[in-house]
Amino acid sequence: MCGIVGYVGPRSALDVVIGGLRRLEYRGYDSGGVALVHDGTIAWAKKQGKLANLDKELAERPLPESHTGVGHTRWATHGPPSDRNAHPHLDAANRIAIVHNGIIENFADLRAGLEARGYEMVSDTDSETVAHLIAEQLDADDIELTEAVRRVVQQLRGAFTLVITDAQQPGVVVGARRSSPLVAGRGDGENFLASDVAAFIDYTREAIELGQDQIVTITCDDIVVIDFDGAAGDVNDFHVDWDASAAEKGGYDWFMLKEIDEQPRAVADTLLGRHSRDGALQLDEMRLSDDELREIDKIIIVACGTASYAGLVAKYAIEHWTRIPCEVELASEFRYRDPILGRSTLVVAISQSGETMDTLMAIRHARQQRARVLAICNTNGSTIPRESDAVIYTHAGPEVAVASTKGFLSQLVACYLLGLYLAQARGTKYGDEIASMMAELEAIPAGIQRLLDDAGPVRELARELSGERSVLFLGRHTGYPVALEGALKLKELAYLHAEGFAAGELKHGPIALIEDGLPVFVIVPPRGRDQLHEKVVSNIQEIRARGARTIVLVEDGDDVVTEYADTVIRLPRAPTLLQPLLATVPLQIFAAELADTLGCDVDQPRNLAKSVTVE
Ligand code: AGP
Repeated sequence: MCGIVGYVGPRSALDVVIGGLRRLEYRGYDSGGVALVHDGTIAWAKKQGKLANLDKELAERPLPESHTGVGHTRWATHGPPSDRNAHPHLDAANRIAIVHNGIIENFADLRAGLEARGYEMVSDTDSETVAHLIAEQLDADDIELTEAVRRVVQQLRGAFTLVITDAQQPGVVVGARRSSPLVAGRGDGENFLASDVAAFIDYTREAIELGQDQIVTITCDDIVVIDFDGAAGDVNDFHVDWDASAAEKGGYDWFMLKEIDEQPRAVADTLLGRHSRDGALQLDEMRLSDDELREIDKIIIVACGTASYAGLVAKYAIEHWTRIPCEVELASEFRYRDPILGRSTLVVAISQSGETMDTLMAIRHARQQRARVLAICNTNGSTIPRESDAVIYTHAGPEVAVASTKGFLSQLVACYLLGLYLAQARGTKYGDEIASMMAELEAIPAGIQRLLDDAGPVRELARELSGERSVLFLGRHTGYPVALEGALKLKELAYLHAEGFAAGELKHGPIALIEDGLPVFVIVPPRGRDQLHEKVVSNIQEIRARGARTIVLVEDGDDVVTEYADTVIRLPRAPTLLQPLLATVPLQIFAAELADTLGCDVDQPRNLAKSVTVE
């Protein structure tokens, strides 16, 4: 997510805002900027890259003194990282400056309307439309900034935090939020707005958490909160008792725990804006025409580690929805097996960082062989999407912990969107079938939230099993890649031997590993029209009969397995193909808790890097 800071008070607004942005740097970003109210206009500076670039710009072209300002560190979603796409964004008259975190789902329509009314866009972002819309309101009526913001947010769809300042209203900063974080800091003769308390914790620990659909107006001696409908807003005051380091993690002990909890938002944001007004799917920068997609006769997914497990899940969905053969290859193996590629092959590269060298080299080989390449990536403007023919960006926000969690779930969502988009283009699924699956996907964030809320027993189980030397994971169909991911999480976080198997493989060897008390997680597929469910139940009976300690992940209402389960972890109901979005979550929590219990560094496990940029 982007970092946002707003300030009004007696200090140098530039110092407070830049200092606050530094506190938010850990979130990851690709550009930064500030805007100050000075002498009836906006003085601003913004640069692509790290804050050091902004510092250099400010040294060369200093901004005037000001006591009202906003600032931003951008994690690109719409529009690649660049100076012009950096925030703040201004209106044409240099009166309004806005900074934005989130996704404005209907920005294309808003942009078209503004251009039809003669407004000229100067960036590729969804955020810029808001600056023009607010200026338009202030030009049309004799109203104050708060009312102009209140009118504009009624037009916006999606998730957003906006912080705005008006050159004609010095000493005022206004914020608005929907489904994206915003907190106010209450100082003595000064007040603050920020994405999280880390930005102002050096000045005050008295904070106000803004609620859904609320607008906040800060001056140096007041903080006023209203709802989008104008009524006085309820506020949640709280005292921040974290130290600065904990504040950067939002009060969590580890970034990974924060990122696990961000998964409902990451899934919801990755789905945002994918449905056009008439219900058809639309994808970011698909850049491959429906005709080109209809020519595809083979799909090969290339990725590494956790991303490759997303590919394994995608295989089931894509083949079922599109009837296109879909192979999944470890990127590090792909080009050495002399793969058969051609113009009708679509190579899909899945990468959170967009910089994994194994995956990058795989797509370079694919393009040399004339295959078309589509990237699924969480990092806007990174190398892999830049070298691809098309891209589907996930909107998980920056993932700081080495172990991928929200990155993985958002990759799954992007893979489902690709499968449904291909089915739409090729006519292998009717519109109502696609809409029905999209509705199932849109219900997933609530299911994830329930798993997060009910995670106590999973954490307790992790502490109980922290002395174990080996743990196995079993699954069938889409449960098999989940088993592999659950094992990888335990390996990379707790340095524990863990192995994932296709449950059907047990009798071909691995069942020899089963011994008394050995913990075995089993992901049970939803009951359906095939024998998948019954076969997994019999696998559980087989291992239980040999002494395994069975930990069973099974959907609500399925009580067939309970008599063979030492521990039952309930999952919200979902279609088999989508179950990985839910079943993975308890396994992430289990691994993180067990690692923490063992005293491991959950965010930076030994020997690992967040992005493996060597082959
Ligand atoms: C995931 O927990 C690991 N950190 C690792 O397997 C990772 O998924 C893999 O290195 C691929 O990274 P990427 O998605 O950035 O390409």
